Amino acid sequence: MDVEPEQAFRRAMSAFATGVTIVSAAREDGRMSGMTVNSITSVSLAPRLLLWCLGDQSERYDVFANAEHWGITILSAEEESLAVRFARPERESIESGEAELFAGAPVLRAGVAQFACRTHDRRVAGDHLIIIGEVTDFRVKPGSALTFYRGRYGRADDPRST
Ligand SMILES: Cc1cc2nc3c(=O)[nH]c(=O)nc-3n(C[C@H](O)[C@H](O)[C@H](O)COP(=O)(O)O)c2cc1C
Repeated sequence: MDVEPEQAFRRAMSAFATGVTIVSAAREDGRMSGMTVNSITSVSLAPRLLLWCLGDQSERYDVFANAEHWGITILSAEEESLAVRFARPERESIESGEAELFAGAPVLRAGVAQFACRTHDRRVAGDHLIIIGEVTDFRVKPGSALTFYRGRYGRADDPRST
């Protein structure tokens, strides 16, 4: 695809305001990788399924494409620095104190919600891999959310605590 239409499409899609998450999974060397992801979508209630899309050019592709168990942490408005850090192109490790196992899946201790997932299905779609996860457990706490809109981070205040 030409670069210009690709950028125009990216810009148009960036008008869809989203939350910001870190997807986390264990690597073969025993350390954990994290990646900033905003393509999360809920798919099904019974069974509980969600999906996200992994770019096929990612340096972390093998880690996330092959992981059977992985976690999602939805970031709070105060955690933009985590989003910036885990969007860096180099392999970024999660330090052991920053993460914990939740229902067998690594999640960050940070965030306003965490989901433990087991891979349910994978589908190649263009230059991304759609990863569908079965949610084996989840937990949520109050707090304002980090948002991403038109390429900029922002915040959505918790409507239940005001
Ligand atoms: C707000 C935001 C959302 C992102 N969402 C995704 C996503 O859904 N899927 C994806 O593969 N990369 C996503 N990325 C890009 C990755 O976080 C990372 O920057 C990119 O994959 C480059 O690093 P890598 O080569 O190690 O993968 C997102 C980046 C940002 C800043």
